[in-house]
Amino acid sequence: MMIVCHTVDELRNKIKQVCKAGASIGLVPTMGALHEGHAALIKAAVENNDFVVVTIFVNPTQFGPTEDLDSYPRTLDADLSLAKQLGASLVFAPSAQAMYPSEEMTWVEVTGNLTKVLCGSSRPTHFRGVATIVSKLFNLVKPTRAYFGQKDAQQVQVLKRMVKDLFFDVELVIMPIIREADGLAKSSRNAYLSKEERQAALVLGRSLEKAQEQFKQGERKAKAFIDFVSGEIAKERLAKIDYVAVYQLPDLKQPSAIINGQSLLAVAVYFGQTRLIDNCILEER
Ligand code: PAJ
Repeated sequence: MMIVCHTVDELRNKIKQVCKAGASIGLVPTMGALHEGHAALIKAAVENNDFVVVTIFVNPTQFGPTEDLDSYPRTLDADLSLAKQLGASLVFAPSAQAMYPSEEMTWVEVTGNLTKVLCGSSRPTHFRGVATIVSKLFNLVKPTRAYFGQKDAQQVQVLKRMVKDLFFDVELVIMPIIREADGLAKSSRNAYLSKEERQAALVLGRSLEKAQEQFKQGERKAKAFIDFVSGEIAKERLAKIDYVAVYQLPDLKQPSAIINGQSLLAVAVYFGQTRLIDNCILEER
């Protein structure tokens, strides 16, 4: 039996019981419209924890004023049945009012490079919204482990920093990017794409894979990767680049001209109104 909670009180009561029983808790935060990327996180959580909480909340504070908050896909019934089928113990699907009860509120904000570069430059308040909602969920659910996808590579680094700085007693488990058979990274936002845009969007996965191949062959110039991937994307008439960039991991500092250590090659590209992100890690194995 999977429990469904919509209020903070219901959730807290249940978590109290679970903690009393000494069970380990796995948390999978999502904005719903669940797909196989989310499913991989839920499966991993179910395998390794006694009690698994999936949260479904389209978090208004991480959307900019001109972004897709209102049109973001909402498929709660399908999400509940998938979560149940995957073995989740509880789904928490609160209202915005439940999570943000008053206009005066507390923000959690990771400052510096981590939230300034990449998505932080085109979405200046996004990561503050993410850090704030994830903090609220950590405090409510008290997870032993929390599961996040490498699809949102910058989100992962921001949350790692937050957990460290605020001494959250939780293990972050990061899962690899799940893709469609043709290489398109799974995303709730893929639902917005027209057939032609979807076809054009394949350039992202394809060019990142080739870039990784070039890294394996010995390429080490940061600019070579940026030029190559930008060039491939520019060939697609329907693509409009937000960024193509290389940063050092884990701090997202500017790399030297010749990259060494672990680096992130990340892209954000518009296809029509839809902004898609993708990335790969460049590292010696
Ligand atoms: P959402 O975009 O719904 O994603 C929820 C989780 O699923 C994130 O950790 C994301 O990285 C992961 N995910 C999405 N697509 C994936 C894919 N193709 N492969 C692997 N993992 C994937 O990220 C958010 O929601 C929100 O910012 C949230 C953390 C819930 C805070 O509101």
